Amino acid sequence: MANAIEARKLDVGYGSRRQAVKVLSGLDLTVQAGSFLSILGPSGCGKSTLLRVVADLLEPLGGTISVLGETPHAVRSRRDVGFVFQDSTLLPWRTVRDNVRLPLDVGQGRLTRTIDDRTDQLLALMGLAGFGERLPHQLSGGQRQRVAIARALLGQPQLLLMDEPFGALDEITRDRLNDELLALWRRSRATILFVTHSIAEAAYLGERVIVLAANPGRLVKDMDMRPFKQEANRCSREDPAIISAMAELRSALEQAS
Ligand SMILES: Nc1ncnc2c1ncn2[C@@H]1O[C@H](COP(=O)(O)OP(=O)(O)OP(=O)(O)O)[C@@H](O)[C@H]1O
Ligand SMILES: [Mg+2]
Repeated sequence: MANAIEARKLDVGYGSRRQAVKVLSGLDLTVQAGSFLSILGPSGCGKSTLLRVVADLLEPLGGTISVLGETPHAVRSRRDVGFVFQDSTLLPWRTVRDNVRLPLDVGQGRLTRTIDDRTDQLLALMGLAGFGERLPHQLSGGQRQRVAIARALLGQPQLLLMDEPFGALDEITRDRLNDELLALWRRSRATILFVTHSIAEAAYLGERVIVLAANPGRLVKDMDMRPFKQEANRCSREDPAIISAMAELRSALEQAS
């Protein structure tokens, strides 16, 4: 399978079909399977809305979208998509470990075969070893977000949708988790759609970066980052090539805002 996402003339909005407010208009987007796509754009341009359509949480108003070669609904039913929301919700009465394990309790199929140990491995990966028995209100905002990331990774989804997952973290932790995420992506070959407001983060993580503009939401820049990087999407944050790519993205973002 070549493409993880194929959107053609996609219109997305909120409200009834007849009285909808269009957020994305005529969006054409193809995302290769196994690739890492970063998404930038001003607040309100429709980044989260785009992820919602891919995750089958919102029906498009028009156009077509296929995900992993199927409808978003089929992929969601198979639980092949992991979603880290912008403001993640944990169930307040469940411990950290039980929040991570939530998909096991509500899911079937391949998820139930996932071994228990994975929960602890994932908590350790997210820097939360020893936090398993705490309740969400006993965590900081950034720690809660990391629990949500562990939960999204539990089912080893083929498609991972991440909506500003590291926005609430300090820069050192964020850099560390960026590297963990890249390592995980190299191992899993999952497709990742990663929304961020940080140009540096978008450039460092993405093999490709797109910039959306608002009113209506549309694609205004599509940048292949591979020429700026070494193999397997490796680069240094201080590399002059990456810095110059960031400048180009910044000017696209300024024009889009
Ligand atoms: N449930 C909803 N009902 C009606 N309008 C909505 C709804 N959710 C979002 N919108 C509107 O759709 C537009 C796009 O919202 P969206 O959340 O996709 O933006 P975004 O690019 O993710 O912004 P941010 O960077 O602030 O998260 C905004 O104008 C927003 O007000
Ligand atoms: Mg958003």
